[in-house]
Amino acid sequence: MSASGLSLTPLPSLLAAPEPSWPPGLRETARAMLQNLEGPAPAGLEAPRRMDEFMRRNPVSFWVAALNGECVGYVAVGFPDGPRKEILPGDSVAMGWYIHPGFRRRGLATQAIRLILEKLQDLQVSSVRADIEDANRPSQRLAEKFGFSVSAMGTNAGGAGWKSYVLVVP
Ligand SMILES: CC(C)(COP(=O)(O)OP(=O)(O)OC[C@H]1O[C@@H](n2cnc3c(N)ncnc32)[C@H](O)[C@@H]1OP(=O)(O)O)[C@@H](O)C(=O)NCCC(=O)NCCS
Repeated sequence: MSASGLSLTPLPSLLAAPEPSWPPGLRETARAMLQNLEGPAPAGLEAPRRMDEFMRRNPVSFWVAALNGECVGYVAVGFPDGPRKEILPGDSVAMGWYIHPGFRRRGLATQAIRLILEKLQDLQVSSVRADIEDANRPSQRLAEKFGFSVSAMGTNAGGAGWKSYVLVVP
């Protein structure tokens, strides 16, 4: 728990609990993320499709950011090369993030990612990768703020450009 009241809870346990409360849409988004591990995303969700794809590829660990008992988003950690049950020293992991639109530009993603990076440092993870679409300027700037740098680029099936941002964990 940080001084501002932000805390991190594993997503499955938060989903199972009646409290804390979630802003409209976020609980459904989070449930859909978990369901995505089994099948395609239900239509009409606000979670970016790229994040759905990420979650399908990386069903390992989920953390959410909860602010004063209210869930405001998540930082998810997984493996680029297929499902694994735990994070081991020396691993390279993938990361994705999402903050509910009503709670953006308050430094919450910054705080949540900082907390997760501290966890990953404790676990002796060697590097973190975030794949970000070229159109997603907020996420690019966020990654750059944390010292991520571009290591690869490509184009997805829909024709959108993306870049892999990598951070070597100190
Ligand atoms: C990207 C996202 C997580 C940022 O969350 P947030 O809580 O608003 O971010 P913060 O307030 O901590 O901002 C941190 C930095 O991100 C960048 N940033 C955030 N929103 C931005 C925006 N709309 N435009 C430009 N830069 C932005 C800035 O560099 C900012 O630092 P600054 O405030 O010193 O300028 C949020 O916009 C989001 O959930 N987007 C949709 C999900 C998504 O795209 N996920 C990534 C898939 S790879």
